[in-house]
Amino acid sequence: MKVTSPSRSVAIVGAGMSKFGAFPDLTTRDLFVTAFGEMCASVDKGLDPEDIQALYIGNYSSDMFEGQGHTAPIMADWVGLTPRPATRIEDACASSGVALRQGFIAVASGMYDVVLVGGIEKMSNLPTERVTDTLATAGDVLYEITAGFTFPGFYAAMATAYMHRYGATPEDFMRVGLKNHENGALNDKAQFGARIADIMAKKKARAERKGYPVPTWADEMAFLHDDRANPVIAWPMRLYDCSPISDGAAAVLLVGGELAKSFTDDPLYIIGSGQASDRGLHDRPDLTRIGAARVAGEVAYEMAGVTPDAIKLAEVHDCFTIAEIIATEDLGFFPAGQGVQAARDGLTARQGVRPINTSGGLKSKGHPVGASGAGQVIEVWKQMRGAAGERQIDGDIDLALTHNVGGTGQTCVVHIYERR
Ligand code: COA
Repeated sequence: MKVTSPSRSVAIVGAGMSKFGAFPDLTTRDLFVTAFGEMCASVDKGLDPEDIQALYIGNYSSDMFEGQGHTAPIMADWVGLTPRPATRIEDACASSGVALRQGFIAVASGMYDVVLVGGIEKMSNLPTERVTDTLATAGDVLYEITAGFTFPGFYAAMATAYMHRYGATPEDFMRVGLKNHENGALNDKAQFGARIADIMAKKKARAERKGYPVPTWADEMAFLHDDRANPVIAWPMRLYDCSPISDGAAAVLLVGGELAKSFTDDPLYIIGSGQASDRGLHDRPDLTRIGAARVAGEVAYEMAGVTPDAIKLAEVHDCFTIAEIIATEDLGFFPAGQGVQAARDGLTARQGVRPINTSGGLKSKGHPVGASGAGQVIEVWKQMRGAAGERQIDGDIDLALTHNVGGTGQTCVVHIYERR
């Protein structure tokens, strides 16, 4: 694809998020107000919200999850930004990654100087079966859903194909979940702020308290192999291979590059942005890769003028554990079929050469689908500025990347960030 680099640079000068989790007493509005407040507080030299000129809000399906459509102007109202233009972006689980790209394009074009990008979703209002049906509409209803597919089923098919071609095992997928729970345990915004060892200890204590037989798992792998503790959802994807059902919101402030230093001495610059589309999974020749991710990555790398080797940290779309392994290959971090060995060797761990999902990823931080892409930016913002606390990775993180997938990869959006 032909890549055109914008003439105006675009900077991130503020970022914030609500906690991700299941919050029966909170609405999307409450969550977005929290994220917006945290974003405002993160702008080092202060922000007058009056300076915000437009909002781009990623949201998959407030219509079905909450019975509320037309959410962007409501968000503008609740953070005091009417009558500014407020646009909802829907691209399934990539909604707020695409909203970020729309905000980037709006600022890069010179149309606006200061833009608010947000992501919102509240899934936990519905029972799991109805969440599954709602998510399934992001697949191809005519060819896939009527044949019985759900999202765990789609990614299970990809996992099975990957196992067959490259010799991966269910244990390989389990290790990805283990790593992301380790990272999420250090993130106070994560839905599961617990290592799998902590979850095991809690379950043992609960059994003891209730007078039930106390499980005798020898270690985390024994727990993950236990069908009762970690049931199969769609083989080989078990409970701990799946991202959860989540509520949450995130907010990011974009400004023209020449204005960035009036907001902070430490801005991040978006130097690459790529987005691509693809056919449904049923119509793809190869289930072990996501073509749109490859194209979006190539466009983003070319615009940024960098190669995958230069990226110090990536937040990738691990809606299921197999998706993280495939993402690390699609993005060029590892050759096809070698992402699984890289994960086995610990290369993607926080202390590894290629840290992936230091936030805990969608698996552990949570996956409020329309908010996940913007949520990824919060981790990049914190890590690149040395503000990630206990989970801070070592060294100078001058380049980072986010990768946000919609559906099974009918949409993918990739951004590359620089700290100068
Ligand atoms: N990982 C680990 N534990 C999870 C979990 C997950 N993804 N989802 C729920 N749990 C835990 C709960 O905390 C709860 O633990 P407890 O008994 O100790 O309190 C237990 O499992 C039961 O929770 P419940 O909400 O009843 O689970 P569920 O069976 O209704 O839902 C899934 C589990 C996996 C079906 C659901 O999380 C799901 O559909 N995930 C995929 C979402 C998805 O497809 N997103 C889009 C991706 S593209």
